[in-house]
Amino acid sequence: MTDKNIHIIVGSQMGSSEYVADQLNDVLQNKGYICQVHEQPDLIQIPSSNVIWLVCTSTHGAGDFPDNLQEFIKNLNQHTNLNSLSYSVIGLGDTSYDNYNKAAKDVDLLLKTKQANQITQVLEIDAMDENLPEDIAIAWLPTWLTAISEDKL
Ligand SMILES: Cc1cc2nc3c(=O)[nH]c(=O)nc-3n(C[C@H](O)[C@H](O)[C@H](O)COP(=O)(O)O)c2cc1C
Repeated sequence: MTDKNIHIIVGSQMGSSEYVADQLNDVLQNKGYICQVHEQPDLIQIPSSNVIWLVCTSTHGAGDFPDNLQEFIKNLNQHTNLNSLSYSVIGLGDTSYDNYNKAAKDVDLLLKTKQANQITQVLEIDAMDENLPEDIAIAWLPTWLTAISEDKL
């Protein structure tokens, strides 16, 4: 079990990603992890050193970030180095759109570019899937917890 704090960073326009983030937060806290959800993420207020970020974002517009994540991403672009940060990304998207899960893929790439340590590949959740997004995310959680326990950073 990691002793690092987990920060769940939400990008959500209509509430689905926020709901997934809240569900994950409940499970993680029940398991004893120190975990916090940031529904209106402000980069200045979120630690980025020796912590784990779990970015949970949908895609809107034509492959854009949700409104509540726009400023955060702009500020993240200015950040020079995140080499003591470990992270994973969960994307909520819809395969009936051209830019499937583009925001999740873009933030994953941005964090990688800033030398943050990617723990797992992006978990891509499709709104067309018959399973509920939160059920998919919770089913994935044990794999993620194993991965963070092996995180060498
Ligand atoms: C106007 C609009 C634009 C969307 N654009 C995309 C898109 O470009 N790519 C994608 O994968 N999903 C797209 N989606 C699907 C949403 O990402 C998906 O429904 C998601 O579950 C919404 O999560 P949220 O409630 O947290 O915002 C779009 C949805 C709407 C309503």
